[in-house]
Amino acid sequence: MKNQKVALITGANRGIGFETAKQLGEQGITVILTARTLVVATESAEKLKQQGIDAYGIQLDVTKAEERVTAAKYIEEKFGKLDILINNAGIGPKDWSMFEKTVSGTTLEEFEYVFNTNLFSLVAVTNELLPLIKKSAAGRIVNLSSILGSLTIHSTKDSPIASMKTLSYNASKAALNMYTNHLALELEGTGIKVNSAHPGWVKTELGTDAAQMEIPDGAKTSVQLALIGEDGPNGKFIHLGEELPW
Ligand SMILES: NC(=O)c1ccc[n+]([C@@H]2O[C@H](COP(=O)([O-])OP(=O)(O)OC[C@H]3O[C@@H](n4cnc5c(N)ncnc54)[C@H](OP(=O)(O)O)[C@@H]3O)[C@@H](O)[C@H]2O)c1
Repeated sequence: MKNQKVALITGANRGIGFETAKQLGEQGITVILTARTLVVATESAEKLKQQGIDAYGIQLDVTKAEERVTAAKYIEEKFGKLDILINNAGIGPKDWSMFEKTVSGTTLEEFEYVFNTNLFSLVAVTNELLPLIKKSAAGRIVNLSSILGSLTIHSTKDSPIASMKTLSYNASKAALNMYTNHLALELEGTGIKVNSAHPGWVKTELGTDAAQMEIPDGAKTSVQLALIGEDGPNGKFIHLGEELPW
């Protein structure tokens, strides 16, 4: 059991998170699927168990401190360590159409809403689980970012994301990228690698049906970064093996 790799995926009940858990499970990794309610988490894990995957479901609303503590205790007691953390849970703006009007019209309330999940809770989940990741022989942390968080690409005239000035969401992912950079540097030499993943534009509830990529392909970047070896990237922003500019 000690050598068995254990991964925790936040927001694993649907979309890219569920598929990431499935693909990691298919690689023989024990997967802990987390969701906002125990019922939903258990149902999601059950679907993978039926495919022969070693899967567990636990409740974790990433914004709730007591649930973060309980999740860490569960892993400590059951596995004694965590090898892979996929910080996948994320939300879009309350109202995407607001950005067709103005960037300067983005309210503080909107910033707080998006940042609370996409940055503050992600940092808090990571801090809570870091002592367990430090017990892994080769910890991997994957932060689900987005190309929309790239300052360089937004600054490039006529870029493919030129019209997507969804400020609160984009800024939350840019800030998350900074977190990836700083945490990776702090953890250098510990064996832990921390990277930001851009999954692509993926057909999920968040990505909508207009997206280009199917969910199995959308999970590939997270899975690849979870499985990188000692010579793999650290503190980078990656999409399907290619480095993106910050
Ligand atoms: N789809 C894309 O095109 C795309 C592109 C770039 C980046 N991303 C990023 O990829 C990640 C996954 O996105 P997705 O497309 O799979 O989105 P999705 O289908 O909307 O799924 C989002 C997941 O996050 C969970 N979640 C949200 N807030 C949560 C909270 N407070 N606590 C726990 N779970 C929470 C949701 O749970 P509930 O079911 O309970 O709401 C759901 O499981 C996100 O971080 C997103 O920003 C997606």
